[in-house]
Amino acid sequence: MIVRHCASAEATQAAGEEFAALLRPGDVVLLSGRLGAGKTTFVQGVARGLGVRERVTSPTFTLVRPHGCENANGVTTLYHADVYRAGSLAEVFDLDLTELIEESAVALVEWGETAAPVFGDFLKVTLSEDDAGGRDLVVEGALVRTREHALTRWAGA
Ligand SMILES: Nc1ncnc2c1ncn2[C@@H]1O[C@H](COP(=O)(O)OP(=O)(O)O)[C@@H](O)[C@H]1O
Ligand SMILES: [Mg+2]
Repeated sequence: MIVRHCASAEATQAAGEEFAALLRPGDVVLLSGRLGAGKTTFVQGVARGLGVRERVTSPTFTLVRPHGCENANGVTTLYHADVYRAGSLAEVFDLDLTELIEESAVALVEWGETAAPVFGDFLKVTLSEDDAGGRDLVVEGALVRTREHALTRWAGA
């Protein structure tokens, strides 16, 4: 199992920043974990790693927000979605996220586990609180196999 422990919010951001290095255009990352687990914090780190310049917050009223970026991965847009308030799977499907990211984008979806049926292959990051108030980040999903080595290194950092 690929698990990375994060003792602080800064550590969650650093984990996101390093995770960004192994993302490729077209990737979907589903973020799972209860309210306050650190999903948005992780996305902020990924955004930093992908070279997003603007501030990343929860896309509460829009469900999905695009952030332009510049990096060595060839990713030009980070789509940050939060489907917590989506009324149905159909509503998530209507966001057309898989269409949006086809060319040179990636999508990170908070509460993504509920929307998993809408997507094909994806990485799933599950965040949970540990006994000491930190977080454990578990990475799973079909895309793990092709990135096993990089992810194992990421987990060991
Ligand atoms: N590894 C961590 N240890 C302790 N606190 C953390 C950690 N990661 C994130 N947090 C804190 O948890 C709180 C909720 O984070 P947030 O990213 O908004 O969660 P979510 O998007 O899952 O609701 C924030 O105050 C954040 O600073
Ligand atoms: Mg959030």
